[in-house]
Amino acid sequence: MKIFKNINELVTLSSAHAKDGRNLNPDDLSIIKDGAIVFDEHKILWVGETKHLPEQYQAKAISLAGHVLTPEVVDSHTHAIFGGDRANEYVERLNGVSYEDIARRGGGILLTMNQTNAASSDELYQTAKKRIQTIASYGVGTIEVKSGYGLNFEKEYELSLIIDRLKKEFAPHVKILNTYMAAHDVPKTFKSSHEYMKEVVIPLLEKLAPLKIIDAVDIFHEKNYFDYADTTLLFETAKRLGIPGKMHADELNDNNGATLGAKLGSLSCDHLLKISDAGIEVLKNSQTVATLLPGTAFFLGKPLAPAKKLLDAGVKVAIASDYNPGSCHCDNVLLVASISAAQFKMNIAQTWCGITLNAAHALGLKNQGALVVGMSSRFSIFKAESLSHISYHWGHNFSVKLT
Ligand code: NIG
Ligand code: FE
Repeated sequence: MKIFKNINELVTLSSAHAKDGRNLNPDDLSIIKDGAIVFDEHKILWVGETKHLPEQYQAKAISLAGHVLTPEVVDSHTHAIFGGDRANEYVERLNGVSYEDIARRGGGILLTMNQTNAASSDELYQTAKKRIQTIASYGVGTIEVKSGYGLNFEKEYELSLIIDRLKKEFAPHVKILNTYMAAHDVPKTFKSSHEYMKEVVIPLLEKLAPLKIIDAVDIFHEKNYFDYADTTLLFETAKRLGIPGKMHADELNDNNGATLGAKLGSLSCDHLLKISDAGIEVLKNSQTVATLLPGTAFFLGKPLAPAKKLLDAGVKVAIASDYNPGSCHCDNVLLVASISAAQFKMNIAQTWCGITLNAAHALGLKNQGALVVGMSSRFSIFKAESLSHISYHWGHNFSVKLT
């Protein structure tokens, strides 16, 4: 059992949790000043003001004066395992060539596919490990990692196993979620997405499922990538195998992705730059989280997702980094959240909940994201006067590890 007391701000999010992460006001942060918390390795046992800390806990309590303790920061969307880089494409984009044009002539995801296939298993393991260490150094404790740059049976299999190895090595300090995203792009050697699904994506999922290492599947539901039939097939297969689904939806075009995602019970629909009003209406009546990845729009110089509309409608909104070598080479979800707060005009509860409670929900982690008795004892600790100081000093690393 561990006990912390005199915490400047204990950001419990208890009210946000009671409201299912929707329609949040700043008060829903439910901050306890000069707070204390008692927990064991699994769950929270007591939360309150230091002055109310029961007598039997007083002696063992460690002071965290000058610190903020919040539900664990989660990066619920990364593509952190890949070979090579795309710095050249970045420069081309600055010179006016579009992301779509680069992809059309064989760059983009397919270039990273070649670089990933050229990399050895050990290289991929080492580089992904370094990236995860960096992400964790910002105070992020739960990190989703997607496969998806192998794009053939053998390499995708290898990527899923490497993510699993990392998951076991980083646990319990950092929790890694292993998302299977062989349906990220269609290699040019296949006639169609349907053929690639039938020959690679579905058979490999059938092979991986019994190993019990895959936490979710994901697919790039997008014009010229994967269509309605592919997405439905993946979700139905995954469901039969007991694995939940997530999707990249309505990023480059409005493809009714949000509507399809909600219908299929997707944990989250991610990107949503082009989501329609009808899509917003469907999401608001579902448990599917709208995960915004504003770093991608910033990096590609595209208009942002309609965050305000989503929030005002009562949709559950998360923010994630989308860390990848092409469309968003940024590994710091706290920085992304700080910038997006101002750009999206999200209040502080919506912003913080977006990278804690709602981000956990986007990964199916329903017992995480609020400092409530009985919930998981996963939290982040920052050396800062208050929560607002963290978001306000954007890009600064306030994280401290107490182990
Ligand atoms: O989420 N949209 C699809 N996948 C990535 C982009 C990956 C890349 O450009 O390498 C994304 O933005
Ligand atoms: Fe992505």
